[in-house]
Amino acid sequence: MGEIVLAAKCTHVPTMLMSEQEGPIKGTRQPAIDGHMEIARRAKALGADTVVICDTHWVINAGFHINANSSFKGLFTSNEFPQFIQDLEYDYLGNPELGDAIAATASDMGIYTLSHHLDSLELEYGSLVPMRFMSREHEMKVVSVAACCTVHDHAESRVVGEAIRKAVEASDSKVLLVASGSLSHKIWANKDYAANNGTFTISSEFNRQMDLHVLEMWQRGDHATFLKILSDYANLCCGEGSMHDTAMLYGALGWDSYDKPCEVVTEYFPSSGTGQTNVIFPV
Ligand SMILES: [Fe+2]
Repeated sequence: MGEIVLAAKCTHVPTMLMSEQEGPIKGTRQPAIDGHMEIARRAKALGADTVVICDTHWVINAGFHINANSSFKGLFTSNEFPQFIQDLEYDYLGNPELGDAIAATASDMGIYTLSHHLDSLELEYGSLVPMRFMSREHEMKVVSVAACCTVHDHAESRVVGEAIRKAVEASDSKVLLVASGSLSHKIWANKDYAANNGTFTISSEFNRQMDLHVLEMWQRGDHATFLKILSDYANLCCGEGSMHDTAMLYGALGWDSYDKPCEVVTEYFPSSGTGQTNVIFPV
């Protein structure tokens, strides 16, 4: 019988890639890179064979969608930040049976979800950046779940999360579940970016204080209270992808009955106006 062996909320900022290239960013995102590698080491120790990534860079405008291709290989340039992510090489195996099972389970639970096997349907960088670093420590098959949900509510994403867990438990896979997205996500206005050293700062002190408060709640295991503010937090602090990745994560973990204290493996850091971290949600 399969199981989710570990879960995490993960950053995927492009500066993590630039941190390993010559230039002004070099070395500055090492703690975030180390966090991804630590999560992968823990997943390996727990026997994970597959990572299911809820990706806040995959924008969807109807239904829910899963990239369940059998393999992913290519060169990725971000259409959002072509100056930051260029020709990123990737080569990963997929887990089509599990991706299909998640879609079928979610649909059975009333949430219309499609699973796709298309070589031209690329992974987005919310999946590719974590895989870049995690794969150094542990090779895992990848299933990517769209989590930039423009016309959906958190109650639906919660059910998708429940379907992920149900499908995993009916499979023979051991899974690392990753919610790939930031905390607050108010990117600096273009005209203000340079004057505010935008790469390394947050755009709103209110957002920073809320992010720190949320991290405290997570570390205390007070998820039930967090879930009461999730919608307001996502709205007021511009949560990435409206934080549908987070709603899916909690759906998989049991929503407000989940009470485990989280472990911050990468200290909170600002990036391009947004709030970022890597946090383990023990199962
Ligand atoms: Fe992002």
